[in-house]
Amino acid sequence: MTITVIGSGKVGASAALNCALRELDDVLLLDIVQGLPQGESMDINHQLAERGSDSYVRGSNNYEDMENSEFIVLVAGIGRKPGMTRMDLLKINSGIIKDVSSKILTYSPNATVIVVTNPLDPMTYLTLKKTGFKRNKVIGMGGMLDLSRFKSFIHEFTGVSRSSVNAMVISEHGENMLPLTRFSSIGGIPLHEFMSNSKEKLDEIFEKTKNVAADVIALKGATVYAPGNAVATMIESIIKDKRSVIPVSAMLDGEYGFEDVCIGVPVILGSNGIEKIVELNLNNFEREIFTKGITSVKEAIKSLQI
Ligand code: 2OP
Repeated sequence: MTITVIGSGKVGASAALNCALRELDDVLLLDIVQGLPQGESMDINHQLAERGSDSYVRGSNNYEDMENSEFIVLVAGIGRKPGMTRMDLLKINSGIIKDVSSKILTYSPNATVIVVTNPLDPMTYLTLKKTGFKRNKVIGMGGMLDLSRFKSFIHEFTGVSRSSVNAMVISEHGENMLPLTRFSSIGGIPLHEFMSNSKEKLDEIFEKTKNVAADVIALKGATVYAPGNAVATMIESIIKDKRSVIPVSAMLDGEYGFEDVCIGVPVILGSNGIEKIVELNLNNFEREIFTKGITSVKEAIKSLQI
């Protein structure tokens, strides 16, 4: 069993570190850049040795080394730069994903793939189509990351322990992201109630959650730690068959009234990957944003001429 991370930049290395710290499995870091995955793996192993983790991280430039991996974390591609939207990466990253998908098919045809490359929802769709894998096995990491930011702002606005915050973010991992204040709670108390129905504050949390990745990128060039953690949380739920309810980009087949499109929805993640897509009863406002997300992703997919 191995977790292979394709793309050993900062996010790939962070995903490897987070998986190994939790001792989910051994990790292979792959990259075409000579020396990068080897250097990252050395540095990570030094930390793991001190922490007493027995997951080992290896670096390689050869795709053959990923043979029979149980998980592939697909981070390959260009990251979002200051001033760019995630959609701006569509053309360049689709070529990379097509190429890497054929390698996955050759070397690890039974893997579960966690897609991280942006624009996340179209790239999840593209990976699914190019590998031909079943829809429960190709899972986009977007909502889980958006959720970390949403939780962070709920904590900041309320001052309660982060461990008491429960939240959900769905729709596009992009301009039509939908933090669901109505489906979020603090210690079981609906968020709206806890915040005395302050529309102003709830709107502010909503907007900040949508826009904060761009702020991080403007300040430090990339988002790194939260994405790496989100990948590990998803893999952990599958490896341990935890059946956690997590928002991910999944292929819809009639759920929410749409099909043939990947978008962020809550799912149960267990040993079969996506065990079930959970359908929420969205109100008009929520449904409007979700539908805009679907339209945006569908347009992107169409332009790829898959
Ligand atoms: C993020 O949200 C850039 O999609 C990446 O951190």
